[in-house]
Amino acid sequence: MPATTMEQLVSLCKRRGFIFQNADIYGGFQGLYDFGPLGVELKNNLKNAWWRAMVYERDDVEGLDSAILTHRKVLHYSGHEDTFSDPMVDCKDCKCRMRADTLKDGKCTECGSTNLTEIRQFNLMFKTNVGPVVNEESYGYLRPETAQGIFINFKNVVDSTSRKVPFGIAQIGKSFRNEITPRNFIFRVREFEQMELEFFVKPGTDEEWHEKWKEARLKWWEEQGVPAEHIVAKPIPKEDLAHYSKATYDICYEFPHGLEELEGIADHTDYDLANHTKNQDEFKINAHVHDKNVDSTSKLALYDEEAKEWFIPFVIEPSAGVERGVLAVLTEAYTEEALENGTTRIVLKLKKHLAPIKVAVIPLKRNNEAIMNMAHKIKTDLLKLGIGRVALEDSGNIGKAYRRHDEVGTPICVTVDFDSIEQEPASVTIRDRDTMKQTRVNLADLPNYIREYFA
Ligand code: GAP
Repeated sequence: MPATTMEQLVSLCKRRGFIFQNADIYGGFQGLYDFGPLGVELKNNLKNAWWRAMVYERDDVEGLDSAILTHRKVLHYSGHEDTFSDPMVDCKDCKCRMRADTLKDGKCTECGSTNLTEIRQFNLMFKTNVGPVVNEESYGYLRPETAQGIFINFKNVVDSTSRKVPFGIAQIGKSFRNEITPRNFIFRVREFEQMELEFFVKPGTDEEWHEKWKEARLKWWEEQGVPAEHIVAKPIPKEDLAHYSKATYDICYEFPHGLEELEGIADHTDYDLANHTKNQDEFKINAHVHDKNVDSTSKLALYDEEAKEWFIPFVIEPSAGVERGVLAVLTEAYTEEALENGTTRIVLKLKKHLAPIKVAVIPLKRNNEAIMNMAHKIKTDLLKLGIGRVALEDSGNIGKAYRRHDEVGTPICVTVDFDSIEQEPASVTIRDRDTMKQTRVNLADLPNYIREYFA
């Protein structure tokens, strides 16, 4: 079968309720998407898998959920006010506006004209007024990354947990960027979620940790069904590095529209903590200071008991986009299979922990009370296992129900039929999404079977 196309994914996502264009009843709001009944489950499952790997399974990471609205001084001292921009150009002929780095041979991407304006910088942050008074100082920003919320809470977390390096702070949450040209479905959007870890280390150990985190993140993507052979960890050339970075890997994935960034893993040095620190002159700072900090009331530093001095930790930052993760996972899972009877089925071969619906319980006849009662009871019992969503699928047509659940990636269907209610001991049919194999299981053994399957 050919590689998955964006059209196939967009169509499946809309048809089955994964992802919708935002405000489509008003013609659509560009660069914004809504996650539907199954999309929200898939997205939550991916975020939970990240949180579990980062916070629960490690002993050196704490979690955080900081505010989205961000103090202007935070984004001033972080450098975002001055540097978080993309080069923009307008086409004087077709009036379209685009990122200058997307021009093809210096020509407009829409009409091919070379009649373009000068390139100018466009800041990507959304500015908003905060509070009832509107004046020169009353504005803040919707955060363009979750990372700054972590840096400004560094001391709060250290003081409340007594952490020493190496340790990390993890956060998942919304970020906003006024992208000049949002495109490629949910790949480049204006409102998205990030899964970011800031891992603080002793200066001098940063290069070793940078490599360790690259390996850990590649392994994690593999566990989500995005195999290493479809990923390239690209070291960014020195001359292209962001101003805060000493070294960066772009984890690039073969998306339907091309090889593009899924996650960035940067060695940030001491740039962020140093820039948010008061009395910066007291410290040996490796990164450049963006603007001498005259506003911070805190030093974001740790005391080195051996050297008997304060130091500003370096930070390694694995930063992944949730939407890009969802797109990668869907691209890998989408499969069209030719069946023996000459038809084709679409099946979403998601890893079972990511599947939006874990088990569909299908009563063969919805107007048979005994069958319906048994199906309801099975649903309630399986739900108690805590495996995630268990759905009662009583649309009536068993063949259609199997196809629907293949398309949305439900790993297991449990069918309740006449034998289930008439024969002793009671039993049900279990159908496997990938092999389509059906097995008869005693009702009494079902919870254990399902528990072990999802363990
Ligand atoms: N704190 C570092 C940081 O924000 P970034 O490379 O700008 O680094 C990290 O963003 C990740 O966030 C990217 O690898 C990508 O997955 C996701 N991302 C960034 N901009 C995005 C956008 N406009 N739409 C969707 N995802 C985006």
